[in-house]
Amino acid sequence: MKQFKDKIAFITGGASGAGLGQAKVFSKAGMKVAIADVREDALKAAVKESIAYSGCSDEDVLPIKLDLTDREAYTKAADLVEAVFEGPPHLLIQTAGVNSFGPVEASTFDDFDWVVGVCFDAVVNGLLIFVPRMIKAYANKEEFHVAATSSMGGFMAGSTTGPYSAAKAAVNNLIYSYAEALKPYGASATVLCPGNINSNIGNAEKFRPEHLKNTGYHVSEGTMKTLGAIHATGIDPVELGEILKEGIENGRIIVLPDHNPDGRAAMLRSQHEAIENYTLTAEQRAIADAERFKNFAPPVSDDSGPPPSMWGVPEGGEAFGQARADLDYVDPSKKFTK
Ligand code: NAI
Repeated sequence: MKQFKDKIAFITGGASGAGLGQAKVFSKAGMKVAIADVREDALKAAVKESIAYSGCSDEDVLPIKLDLTDREAYTKAADLVEAVFEGPPHLLIQTAGVNSFGPVEASTFDDFDWVVGVCFDAVVNGLLIFVPRMIKAYANKEEFHVAATSSMGGFMAGSTTGPYSAAKAAVNNLIYSYAEALKPYGASATVLCPGNINSNIGNAEKFRPEHLKNTGYHVSEGTMKTLGAIHATGIDPVELGEILKEGIENGRIIVLPDHNPDGRAAMLRSQHEAIENYTLTAEQRAIADAERFKNFAPPVSDDSGPPPSMWGVPEGGEAFGQARADLDYVDPSKKFTK
């Protein structure tokens, strides 16, 4: 998709972080932008920020308060966009996401339902609600495109990132399917896989819905502060939005937030190697992994921050990724202790 002016975009999670950066970038490119988010106050502030940044008029930004996991409400939001902007989106960007970290064996159903619900199920909702409308309106007549914000976490697994990494891996795979499936309609799909973004995701736990609050992880003001400090070192959301725009313009299916192709390739090669190593016997894998880590210095790009494996807890900060103290079966070394 190369032409954005006067076209319609629908961006989820646009009240903050990466989604807000995308709203600014695509508004500035001349699009009419619907911003969907569950947090009403943040949404209002984001609309103001986006208008101030892009110089677009009030009528070109449509805020929609929406819990993306609610299919009925999502369908109504799609109807609203069509009514207000006189058509379905040409560009669907599903960026809303949450995360929560802890030993995967400590996870509860609530942990999976919340993280996978927002990061994957809601993406499915958006694709099923919007893509048929987009095909009917634009196939082989006007450019259209679907995108989702996944994560580098979608290429790797971590013992404390189970639900998040699984959801993001599923998003990646689904977007590859859509990229193939949309070709006959003259469209394509892109998945954005950042490493670290300067966003508010470290505070996501504050907005976890009441009915999904039973977490198996240790979560506190301290862990949120630690995550906030880590994310503050991430890529600027507007810069990331520009990188996504370039990727969409040039038909990239995967967009990594690294301008350096060698860094990108090295990071992906390392992940492929890690997965190949899963096919080895335990003894062979121990040798191969030792060799891999000896030779591989993870690339630290200027703009995407350190990869998660290098994330440390800032001095004096409270460690995240631990289990709730009362889970009696979890290895004590993985549990929160005062
Ligand atoms: P953020 O917290 O600043 O923005 C996420 C937005 O999603 C928030 O405004 C939040 O209200 C909204 N949201 C959450 N649940 C929702 C729901 N049920 N319905 C509607 N809106 C909902 O976080 P950030 O970092 O900008 O996250 C954007 C995407 O980037 C996410 O998919 C995240 O997984 C991904 N990502 C973030 C990274 C980071 O370092 N912050 C790294 C890699 C990927």
